Amino acid sequence: MLSSKVVTSLGVALGVLLQFTLADNPIIQTIYTADPAPYVYNNTVWLFADHDEDGSKTYNMKDWRLYSSIDMANWRDWGVVMSLKTFSWARADAWAAQAIEREGKFYFYASMTRSGASYGIGVGVSDTITGPYRDPIGKPIVANGNIDPTVWIDDDGQAYLYWGNPGFYYVKLNKDMISYSGSIVSVPTTQQAFGPKFAEGPWVYKRNGTYYNVFAANCCPEDIRYSTSPSPTGPWTYRGVVMATAGGSFTNHPAVIDYKGGSYFFYHNGALPGGSGYTRSIAVEKFSYGADGSIPTLKMTDAGARQIESLNPYMRVEAETIAFSKGLRTETSNDGGIHVAGVNNGDYLKVKGVDFGAAPGAATISLRVAAASGGGKIELHLGSLTGTLAATCTIDATGGATTWKTVSCPVTSGTATGKQDLFFKFVGNGSNDLFTFNWWQFNKAVAA
Ligand SMILES: *[C@@H]1O[C@H](CO)[C@@H](O)[C@H](O)[C@H]1NC(C)=O
Ligand SMILES: *[C@@H]1O[C@H](CO)[C@@H](O)[C@H](O)[C@H]1NC(C)=O
Ligand SMILES: *[C@@H]1O[C@H](CO)[C@@H](O)[C@H](O)[C@H]1NC(C)=O
Repeated sequence: MLSSKVVTSLGVALGVLLQFTLADNPIIQTIYTADPAPYVYNNTVWLFADHDEDGSKTYNMKDWRLYSSIDMANWRDWGVVMSLKTFSWARADAWAAQAIEREGKFYFYASMTRSGASYGIGVGVSDTITGPYRDPIGKPIVANGNIDPTVWIDDDGQAYLYWGNPGFYYVKLNKDMISYSGSIVSVPTTQQAFGPKFAEGPWVYKRNGTYYNVFAANCCPEDIRYSTSPSPTGPWTYRGVVMATAGGSFTNHPAVIDYKGGSYFFYHNGALPGGSGYTRSIAVEKFSYGADGSIPTLKMTDAGARQIESLNPYMRVEAETIAFSKGLRTETSNDGGIHVAGVNNGDYLKVKGVDFGAAPGAATISLRVAAASGGGKIELHLGSLTGTLAATCTIDATGGATTWKTVSCPVTSGTATGKQDLFFKFVGNGSNDLFTFNWWQFNKAVAA
């Protein structure tokens, strides 16, 4: 996230809009998201994200969202986990943030502007990763007018909170993670340490004995660069460019994780329809470190990261588990958790790499839906949006928008077998939302 101190509308014009195709990047399509902060916990990637409100022409950001994936392709939506309302002292600008676990509690550090002052970094705490997070101290943990926190707990148990724009700073957090000891250290952003022009958005982590700081440089449009160090406090040595271009957004923001044997780089761009520097979207690329620990220069792609395990359709799957979608939104459900809404004729939801198993495969699907009036149909297509039609399920009115029914619908024998991408295509009349959709589950055919 870029400080308004350095905002330039010029940057918007400089960005090159990526071509929009039926791809897996950007990985969230139901809203605009920015400043990725993935965290690996309990064998799952938890992706914390900022949220650009639809149609924004300047920063308009009110809450932080959470998504999760176990396969790097299908992402489940957990909704709002923290917002400006969490912090009594916050005024606006729910900007870049990062979460970390310590002794079973989760700490979520975030930038925002303060009432009657400039920027501050707050910390939210929760007993579960999915929140909701609450403010345990009622004031910023760092109140010095800076943004873009990144947090790291070293092997010796010492936690560090870093941040930066302008400049690059750190402080040693106490074990409670909501206070610090010692003074704030300003790290000179020299050319030798950080290359030609450190800007903002540091992401600090340790891998194989080396400390990495990946950051946005050269505002604007920004690129992503990195430095390494033998210790968490430097000295840092500039190592090169990770992502050379911006893509329809004049800012970028890096995040790096290792997950199930692969390394992943998260960033944001303006690649969704309506995308810009104020309506951004998070994307991901897989990469491999060089033998010397170097990070290669990566390109923004439409394809994104490869799916690393298939999805089991014979377990209940939340409808808000999405590889790609068009026209949909999600909201908190009276039926529990989150559901898919904004369903109109022609919208679709793609789930990737669904493993139906050997023939005869699936016989029926159960769909959890609510329809105030009218309803519509769900067509299940395999392979592509126009691929094999495996089922056409009629969704009748259920008696109210919050009255949920489980509808069972037959699958054409022999179609849903093996591993295939699954498309829910929504069909109906009129301009009103057709229905809401909470979860689905296939049932196996009995072998003859
Ligand atoms: C870890 O994930 C498993 C499987 O999704 C879940 O059942 C379990 O509750 C999770 N544990 C924690 C501590 O989140
Ligand atoms: C870790 O670093 C050492 C050298 O310091 C190198 O030989 C080794 O290949 C690295 N391991 C990985 C997994 O990158
Ligand atoms: C749409 O309306 C037409 C005409 O009333 C009807 O024949 C058709 O079945 C409707 N389609 C859906 C999906 O409800």
